[in-house]
Amino acid sequence: MRIGIDRIGTYIPSEVLPAEVLADAREIPVGKLKQGLGVHAMAVVPPWEDTVSLAANAALRALGDTVSVEEIGLCIVGTESGVDHSKPAAIFVHELLGLPSTCRTYEVKHACFGGTAALLTAMDWIASGSARGRKALVIASDIAKYPPGSAGEPTQGAGAVALVVSEDPALVEMDRSCTGVFAGQVHDFWRPLDQTQAIVDGKYSVDCYLEALEHAFADYARQQEGRDDADQPLSDRFARLVFHAPFPRMASKAHARMVVSDWKAHAARSLELPDDLTDLVERDAQARVDPTLWANQLIGNTYTASMYFGLAGLLEREATELEGKLLGFFSYGSGCCSEFFAGRVVAGASRVAGEIGLGEMIDRRKEVSMAEYERHHAKPDLRAMESPEKPGSHFSGPIYFSGTTDEKRTYAAQERGASFVR
Ligand code: CAA
Repeated sequence: MRIGIDRIGTYIPSEVLPAEVLADAREIPVGKLKQGLGVHAMAVVPPWEDTVSLAANAALRALGDTVSVEEIGLCIVGTESGVDHSKPAAIFVHELLGLPSTCRTYEVKHACFGGTAALLTAMDWIASGSARGRKALVIASDIAKYPPGSAGEPTQGAGAVALVVSEDPALVEMDRSCTGVFAGQVHDFWRPLDQTQAIVDGKYSVDCYLEALEHAFADYARQQEGRDDADQPLSDRFARLVFHAPFPRMASKAHARMVVSDWKAHAARSLELPDDLTDLVERDAQARVDPTLWANQLIGNTYTASMYFGLAGLLEREATELEGKLLGFFSYGSGCCSEFFAGRVVAGASRVAGEIGLGEMIDRRKEVSMAEYERHHAKPDLRAMESPEKPGSHFSGPIYFSGTTDEKRTYAAQERGASFVR
């Protein structure tokens, strides 16, 4: 059975803070943000947007005019910045989209791995026969938030990616036969129940990510032993490598760690390697990783959605030349669980990828000042916001958070006459 990603919808908040503004205010060289971390700008979340509204807006874009809500039999939201300790973000999305009452609906959490956990579960649901011909809606939605002035501050961001997962997918057919897993308890990044911002042991979290990648890729490689093209390094099979990107340079570090050990393992056989691999690694990253990072550079970290923004951006720009080619994915969730897996871009994918519209949404955002960013950052616990500000004219919407009444969250849809308002 061919199973994978049939459609992708993306959504980002309508406000943005350029790296130059943050660097200036915090007296950090802008080169540290742009070259050192790969961060050029970060999404800023105004009071009328939250994890649910981001998710619902991304889902509307994924369904478009093509997939009807009646076709959806499973809706999972992966998030680590949900709006309630008990009530899932997914059930708000269920109502806002008008999904059928027979659609299984829930939220999953494992830090940034939640979106991937949801995708893998959805594919198993289809393969098991439980789907009975229906499709799954998998949404990764998050707001990445760290204390002002902290080392993590430049790596904030927000956004959601929704995937329609189905049989005979139009975009990417996933290889379900082989995935490499690594999980283990580490305290690299976490958010206690009473806190709205994450605690992170930054440098240690980078080490944990790289170690998890090494183990997950080794697990993947073990399962590939004895393959026909064993003379080629395994990592060279992939036309592009899409990594979880908490900050874009993390993906470059991950790529270097992966290919260098893989190439060296093959050097004894068919491969001739220069003594200094630096140039080779850099050229390879430019060709196979950089095309996945342009959107992340302008949006920032989106936790569960980050790797899927990489995929969406890649397909938006390169789907035509990638048709028939294999992509490698590495998903990492602090704490930690990680997985390396692969998928092939389907022939004809460029038709659907042409509808993603991520670049257009990025260009439409309003640049905010440091004062506006700080005001939004300091907004109180959302429970207390009985009536937040209404969306400004730059809001892409249509769905927004409209406040709480008796501790119950409410959402509304802006009248826009756009075709995706259901
Ligand atoms: N010009 C160019 N580059 C410069 C520079 C300048 N003027 N000044 C510094 N740099 C470079 C540094 O050399 C460094 O590069 P290398 O990594 O190649 O050595 C880079 O900029 C970053 O500098 P620092 O390491 O000094 O940065 P920092 O200590 O202030 O913070 C960080 C970096 C630890 C990643 C911090 O941003 C952080 O805590 N971020 C949040 C945690 C995170 O994203 N962890 C990633 C793994 S965990 C995960 O993946 C889950 C998740 O989504 C959170």
